[in-house]
Amino acid sequence: MTAKTLVFANHKGGVAKTTVSVNVADALAREGYSVLFVDLDPQGNATQLIYGYDETPAVTVEQMLAGKESIAAAIVEKTTIPGVALIGATLKLAKLERELQSTPFSSTSLLLQKLHSVKDVFDVIILDTPPALSFLTANALAAADMVFVPVESGSKLALVGTDDMIEFVNQAKTVNTRLKLGGAILTKHDGRKKLCKITQAVIGDYFETVLAHVVPQSADIGKSQAAGQTVLQYDRECTCSREIVEIARQIATIAELKKSEAAQ
Ligand SMILES: Nc1ncnc2c1ncn2[C@@H]1O[C@H](COP(=O)(O)OP(=O)(O)O)[C@@H](O)[C@H]1O
Ligand SMILES: [Mg+2]
Repeated sequence: MTAKTLVFANHKGGVAKTTVSVNVADALAREGYSVLFVDLDPQGNATQLIYGYDETPAVTVEQMLAGKESIAAAIVEKTTIPGVALIGATLKLAKLERELQSTPFSSTSLLLQKLHSVKDVFDVIILDTPPALSFLTANALAAADMVFVPVESGSKLALVGTDDMIEFVNQAKTVNTRLKLGGAILTKHDGRKKLCKITQAVIGDYFETVLAHVVPQSADIGKSQAAGQTVLQYDRECTCSREIVEIARQIATIAELKKSEAAQ
């Protein structure tokens, strides 16, 4: 068993990277995959969702990347999502990123090196990234097998800057030849709105693969997050949950995820 590493990236903020990556992690765990979630955003929103709003893990990704703690120490096994282990992040990650960026020979393969030792422990490693084409996103892309790009439907600016994103992925491919663009995922979609219809109609001009299922605009997302839950935990039967399950299944197919024997 060797884990596939998937990254959810888009340098735009608020496009649902965290929402999609956390909920897909839950859906994949429910399908029987053993999941490690790594939060690479100093805002730590995914960490709050997966670990809880009141506390932060004792050891987080910044200590691991700084070489102060081992990856084993940074992995939290017991999270709010059964089957999903977490390496969390806090605001201190922003400070570390500034330090590493200004350090000669600082490496974009830092995360890859750290994840290497747990590749045989998990079926899939999910990376949530900050809204920037930055050192941390570069580290995520250097460590990944596949990148998925959440795109906010109905926003006039949804696809502006996509070229920069794709160019950044192409640059990452020169240092990580395994990396593939898995596809775009349309988020916050409302099929009744004209702007959403336009986004859906043109997204295929930018991305070779667009996932067939979309994440609908839904109040259930905000409600689930307020309750500290994934949308699947909040209401397994709502439209949003059903779509997330289909998205996770398509991701598993595209990325050729395999379940370990123990998890089956
Ligand atoms: N499908 C959706 N319907 C409604 N609100 C959503 C949906 N997906 C995400 N949101 C909301 O949009 C905001 C940004 O989402 P988030 O996942 O944090 O984006 P990012 O990680 O790209 O910055 C959050 O407040 C979240 O609750
Ligand atoms: Mg986020």
